[in-house]
Amino acid sequence: MEFDPYSHEYFNDPYPIYEYLRDEAPVYHNEKLGFYALSRFEDVLQASIDYNTYSSARGILIQDMDPDYLEAVPMMIMMDPPRQTRLRKLISKAFTPRKVAAMEPDVRALCVRILEPLVERGSCDFVKEFAAVLPMEIISTMLGVPEADRVQVRDWSDVSLTREPGNPEIPKDSMRAMGDMHAYFRELAAQRRKRPRDDMLSFLIQVEVPAEEGGTTKLTDREILGFASLVAGGGNETVTKLLGNALVLFHRNPGSRKRIAEDPRLIPGAVEEALRYWPPSQIQGRSLTRDVELHGRLMPCGSRVLLLTGAACRDGREYENPGRFDIDREIPIPLAFGHGAHKCLGAFLARLEGRVAFEELLERCPDFEVDEGNSERVHMTNVAGYASVPVTF
Ligand code: HEM
Repeated sequence: MEFDPYSHEYFNDPYPIYEYLRDEAPVYHNEKLGFYALSRFEDVLQASIDYNTYSSARGILIQDMDPDYLEAVPMMIMMDPPRQTRLRKLISKAFTPRKVAAMEPDVRALCVRILEPLVERGSCDFVKEFAAVLPMEIISTMLGVPEADRVQVRDWSDVSLTREPGNPEIPKDSMRAMGDMHAYFRELAAQRRKRPRDDMLSFLIQVEVPAEEGGTTKLTDREILGFASLVAGGGNETVTKLLGNALVLFHRNPGSRKRIAEDPRLIPGAVEEALRYWPPSQIQGRSLTRDVELHGRLMPCGSRVLLLTGAACRDGREYENPGRFDIDREIPIPLAFGHGAHKCLGAFLARLEGRVAFEELLERCPDFEVDEGNSERVHMTNVAGYASVPVTF
């Protein structure tokens, strides 16, 4: 069987191929597209921890990133420690559990503001009108993106990850969207440099960070651009997928939906299970810094290796009855947010958004009908989920 992460079959339902990979080809090699793929839970976990061997420095997409791009827009997600650690320390202060918990009233008020007119109308496209809007507003407020520009920034982020089924090339539109987003953040940073405000961009411009050669230094313009692009992308795409995926899963599992509607304390567990069942970020790309032999197969130094988070989260070696959506399931090591040095910085925030969104939705509307026949899935690299989910309240 061929595993082609750009195929229609994969975009629509990657799970049959994941099962084959885990059982028959745990070190899968796709010669044509030039990658290996690990699909078992334990292999993905160990590779995520071993950043010295499984490096992020050539990017985390399916193919190697252009070195000029990595240089021009340095993002910590595409670096290894210790270079990555210095940047991570700096920004992690904005995402501590306490900082995120303090955001809850604002997140809730925003949820209600977006949801109420939709519920009143009686139907909506849950992804386009809610799931894509909520994280965009939250992350734009944090970064300091003015209201008038938010839809544009989200569109750039969407287009930059979109791929044509059957074609591994990065489409011209995606390249253009990345370029436009970078130009935008460069200009916004220049404005904040002149007139700082109370937002993350102004903080990044002003902050002093430890220099590699001792003493302190400011972030470079390129580092600021890298941060803004990473947080804008990471904060938008994945949460949108989580909310859409969870809605469809709650629709498909009416027993679970009834229970969480009656007892909102079950919502965090249900969101966690949605993250395991359909992780929004399905693939973490790495490149090997040495030869690795695994399950009797050699992956040579320099190889591209895909860590298939989506497959690992359904591995029967880790989870009992992995194909069952079970909101009471214990998930000792959640892989949906990655693991190790690059473990998602936005995980607390993403969980908060997921919990609050469904608390507010189910309180207003414990019963809803999803039109799965008219739902559409995204055709994106690395992330999976819905572009459109019509729902009747
Ligand atoms: C459901 C929502 C989310 C999912 C599933 C998710 C998933 C992930 C995963 C799998 C990684 C690790 C990537 C790797 O190992 O190569 C990661 C890293 C990261 N995520 Fe998220 N993410 C989510 C939401 C967010 C949000 C809301 C933000 C920001 C506001 C964010 C910011 C980041 C950043 C900055 C990193 C890089 C950390 C580093 O390199 O040290 N994510 N995310």
